[in-house]
Amino acid sequence: MRPRVFVPAELPRDCLQRLEAVADLSLRTEQLPPSEDEMLRRLPGHDACIPLLTYPMTRQVLETASASPDHPLKLVAQVAVGIDNIDLDATRQLGIPVAHTPGVLTEATADLTMALMLATTRRIVEADRFLRDGSWSHWSLHLLSGLQLQGARLGILGLGRIGTAVARRARAFGMKILFTTEGEVPEDVVRELEAERRTLPQLLAESDVLTVHAPLTDSTHHILDRDALFAMKEGAYLVNTARGGLVDETVLAEALEDGPLAGVGLDVYADEPSVPASLVGRDDIVLLPHIGSSTVHTRHRMASMAVDAVVAWANNEPVPHLFRD
Ligand code: DGY
Repeated sequence: MRPRVFVPAELPRDCLQRLEAVADLSLRTEQLPPSEDEMLRRLPGHDACIPLLTYPMTRQVLETASASPDHPLKLVAQVAVGIDNIDLDATRQLGIPVAHTPGVLTEATADLTMALMLATTRRIVEADRFLRDGSWSHWSLHLLSGLQLQGARLGILGLGRIGTAVARRARAFGMKILFTTEGEVPEDVVRELEAERRTLPQLLAESDVLTVHAPLTDSTHHILDRDALFAMKEGAYLVNTARGGLVDETVLAEALEDGPLAGVGLDVYADEPSVPASLVGRDDIVLLPHIGSSTVHTRHRMASMAVDAVVAWANNEPVPHLFRD
């Protein structure tokens, strides 16, 4: 019997053709993410699902789909490296493997992190607005001046694949790398980056720019809470291209207004696509709509990797890119 695969998001044509060769597909054409109710209605009866990072793969959805009599759910192949939308305790208990897309979006996300870092520290968006609204009347010595990256200290919270790729780029800008991370970092990477390890409190106190590259888990949720944000160096900048839930975004405006922060660059939010009103009106925050990995090449590779996993599974071959914790 051919497996049935639920494809709840638009995938590139060549990816669909590869899937059609091995499975019967149920395509969902709506653009907005499905609600949990919709997933509960539409996922059961499929052996595999290819969700995006905003699709609710909750315990209830997973349990209901895996209890389906004819085609219980057997594989989730997510088109993202982050999998915090998937209840991993439930997939473990139900024995449903989860594939994702590690590695492929490292360089694109690191590029976007640098772009956001530059936009924030050099006030690029604010300067563009200033010019367009007719405020530019003359050149002056301190007009829209910001932080010089050369010689500044970059604190990296999470020195994994993306954190390391950001560090390599930042070194080319003359930044000094400090980091805090769970687990070991290979010696040769630390040597190459001339990076220095710090505790989180030290990192907060010493970094001119802090960039976040940790996964969102129970232990990292709000790792940058009010206390942490207020413990940052005076005049520091914060950049987050990882997950919104790592930072308590409700206190960011206060940390800019009354605390040490000089600027913030965000690509991710706790409850996307909603962005707290306290952030939207501010010139000292650059806000992007979660486009870290959004190059044509990378987004195609992400879809293709998720499809690789489903095709291999349908052919009874070892499933590549499985998430392992
Ligand atoms: C991911 O894959 O987790 C990224 O956030 C997508 O850009």
